Amino acid sequence: MNGGGSGLPDDALSNLLAQMRTAGDAAAPKASSSAELRRDTSIANHPLYRQMQFERNIAKVTGLSNPYYRRHDVRAGSVSVIEGREAVNYASYDYLGLNGDPRIVEAVTEAAREFGTSVSASRISAGERQVHRDLELALARNYATEDCIAFVSGHAAAVSTLATLMGPKDLIVHDAAIHNCIVVGAQLAGSARRLFPHNDLDVLEATLAADRARFDRVLIVSEGLFSMDGDGPDLQRLLTLKERFSAWLMMDDAHGLGVLGATGRGIFEHQQVDPSGVDFWLGTLSKSLVSCGGYIAGSAMAVDLLKSHAPGFVYSVGMPATNAVAAKVALELMNSEPERVARLQRQSQRFHQAARQAGLDVGDSWGFGIIPVMIRESLPTVVLAERLLARGINAFPVLPPGVAEKAARLRFFINASHSDSQIDETVAAVAEEMARL
Ligand SMILES: Cc1ncc(COP(=O)(O)O)c(C=O)c1O
Repeated sequence: MNGGGSGLPDDALSNLLAQMRTAGDAAAPKASSSAELRRDTSIANHPLYRQMQFERNIAKVTGLSNPYYRRHDVRAGSVSVIEGREAVNYASYDYLGLNGDPRIVEAVTEAAREFGTSVSASRISAGERQVHRDLELALARNYATEDCIAFVSGHAAAVSTLATLMGPKDLIVHDAAIHNCIVVGAQLAGSARRLFPHNDLDVLEATLAADRARFDRVLIVSEGLFSMDGDGPDLQRLLTLKERFSAWLMMDDAHGLGVLGATGRGIFEHQQVDPSGVDFWLGTLSKSLVSCGGYIAGSAMAVDLLKSHAPGFVYSVGMPATNAVAAKVALELMNSEPERVARLQRQSQRFHQAARQAGLDVGDSWGFGIIPVMIRESLPTVVLAERLLARGINAFPVLPPGVAEKAARLRFFINASHSDSQIDETVAAVAEEMARL
C-alpha cells in the first residue's frame, strides 16, 4: 500500500502517524497538580474528541477529504448531486425508489394541511391521529401480529423496548453484527449480554444450553437482513431455539422490509416461515417506507405494555401525521406494485453477480439490496471511496467500530431505480480502482 491518496510510502506514513499520536498526547491539557480537585473537563480533552481529531489528522496527512456528512443538493435516489457534482448514488436506503413519489408527496401535503407538521406532544397526552393507528395496523398485518406501536425512530423503538421489557435478572443474546440500537438498549436494560459470532446459531444454542437456567427472561436478537453484510440467519432455527429454551425472539428486519420475499414482506416471506412465531418484529420507516420512525409489531399485550411504559414513547413526541402518512402510503405501494420489489431484487442480483465475476469480495451477501465490497483495511477503503466519488460513484466506506477490525468495506445499497448500465459501469469502475490500490 502506498499511503493512500498522499503518495507517501508506508514507512513515512506510519512515522508521521506515530509523531502525530505523540504530539496529540503532549498537547493534551493535564489536570492541575496544585489543586487536587481541579479537573480539565474541556471537550478538547475528552478522549472521544481527541480520538476524532487524531483520525481527522490522518485524513489531512493522506490528503483525503472527509467522507462523512457530505452535502446532497437534491433528493438522493439512484442519482444524487453531492456538493455540486452528480454521482450515481449507492448510499441511500430508498430500496423501492419511492422517496418523492408524487402519490406520497400528495398524501403528505394533504396531511400537513389537515394536521400540521407536528403532533406537538406525546400521544399519551396530545392524543392519537387516526393515521397513527392506520399505519400501526397495516404494519401488524404485514407480520401477521396482533398489533404494532410506532415510535419516532427505529433506534428509539429498540432502545425503549429493551429497556422496558428486560432487566438485571435477564439475558440478551444477540448476533455479533447486530445494530447499535440493540447494544444500547441492552446496556440501558442492565441485563447480562452474550454475543454469538455472526449467524452462528450453533454457538447461540450452546450459549442457551449453558446459561438459560440462570436467568428469568431471555431475549434472542438477530436481524433479517444484516445492514453491513447483506446476509441473514436461519429464521426457522431461531424459532426452534427460542421455543426449546423458553426465550423471546426479536427480529430487526429494518432492511428486510421491501427487499426480501416475493412481495417484500421480509425475511419470513423469503424463507417461507410463519411470522407470528416471532415475539417482536423491530423495523424502521426510514428505508423502504421512505419516512422517519420505527416500530415494534407483536402481541396486543406487548404493545399495550409498551404504550404505557416505553420511555421513548410515553415521554417523547408522537410521530407527525405527515411521517405516518408517508410510511402508510409507501407500504400500500409496496403491496400494490410488487414489480418494484421484483426489480430491486433483479438489479441487486445483477450487481452481486457482476461483482463476483469481476473478482470482488462481496462476503456472504445474498445479493438483495445490500452488497458490501470487502477491502478490510480502513485507509484503502476511504481512498477507494474517494476515487470512486471522483468518477461520479457514491458508495459509503464503513470502518471499525461500525464493523469489526480488518473488516472495512464499501457498502452498496441498490435501489429499484438503478439502471443496468449504472450497475455495470459501477462494478467495472470498482474493479479498476481496486486493481490500482
Ligand atoms: C438494522 C437497523 N436497525 C435499526 C435501525 C435504526 O432505525 P432508524 O434509522 O429508524 O433509527 C437501523 C438504521 O440504520 C438499522 O440499520
